[in-house]
Amino acid sequence: MRVIDENTITEAALGQMSSTPNPRLKQIMASLVRNLHDFAREVDLSPEEWLQGISFLTAVGQTCTPHRQEFILLSDTLGLSALVNALHDKHIVGPSTKSSLLGPFYRQDAPTRQMGESILGYTKGSETVYYGRVVDAAGKGIPNALVQVWEADEAGYYDLQKFDPNVMDLRGCFHADSEGRYCLRGVCPLGYLIPLDGPVGDLIRAQKRHGYRPAHVHFMVSAPGYSELVTALYIAGDEHLDSDTVFGANESLVVSVNKNDASSPFPSLPSVHFDFRLAAAEKESASGRVGADPSQILKRGA
Ligand code: BEZ
Ligand code: FE
Repeated sequence: MRVIDENTITEAALGQMSSTPNPRLKQIMASLVRNLHDFAREVDLSPEEWLQGISFLTAVGQTCTPHRQEFILLSDTLGLSALVNALHDKHIVGPSTKSSLLGPFYRQDAPTRQMGESILGYTKGSETVYYGRVVDAAGKGIPNALVQVWEADEAGYYDLQKFDPNVMDLRGCFHADSEGRYCLRGVCPLGYLIPLDGPVGDLIRAQKRHGYRPAHVHFMVSAPGYSELVTALYIAGDEHLDSDTVFGANESLVVSVNKNDASSPFPSLPSVHFDFRLAAAEKESASGRVGADPSQILKRGA
């Protein structure tokens, strides 16, 4: 009988799992076990610390509800979600706008709105125009591209945090025109604290991190034959651009609000001009959504 000790345990575990027929599951689980064992050896993990970790993960799971995904929040705050985004972008062929986190506040079925319409419903605030083009790798406009937008208000709150879940506000679906132009009116949002009232919040506080996301507006842009783009525009000047708690902010996604833009479709309003560049779809099914409408995750898992 072979001896199991702190070094031979890894090969023993990998050996048992080597019968896995699905090659990708086999590869992922083998690498996970190797790295997990290396981690435990590196920090010389004690039984108390192991149990503390198990209790933490249990609490993370118990905090999940149909409207809250604490595990995704954990992945976000560890930088894993941003890493998965970066790996996704690496596989995209040709120039395209960088991805950013989908986050927990995306909702399917936001109302369809006309070009230039406002997404302010129940929320009051001063309007900012978001406009530009949806283009392909060569810079040619993509007619009728779907531009979904959602954002927090000027105090940093999403509709889901303020209203009954049946109320949709500060979100909408727009279609680009025949030359790929889009335009909408929203607010210039404020940055906000990620949800800190659960176990992830306890960890953030234990690490003395501030817990803020810089001000941003989320976009999901898609068109048949193109890779779906999930991204966000980050408002220049926010003090947390370089220390986003979930690592979503990226230099190429930082935009300035222009108070005097004569080319804006609404020149009397402050505006943000940004062109979204989509890559041709490699695989029709490949999704760039890191984070998700948790109720959709549950539906898929059921
Ligand atoms: C958001 O941008 O909506 C978000 C992303 C990750 C964690 C929390 C919020
Ligand atoms: Fe957000």
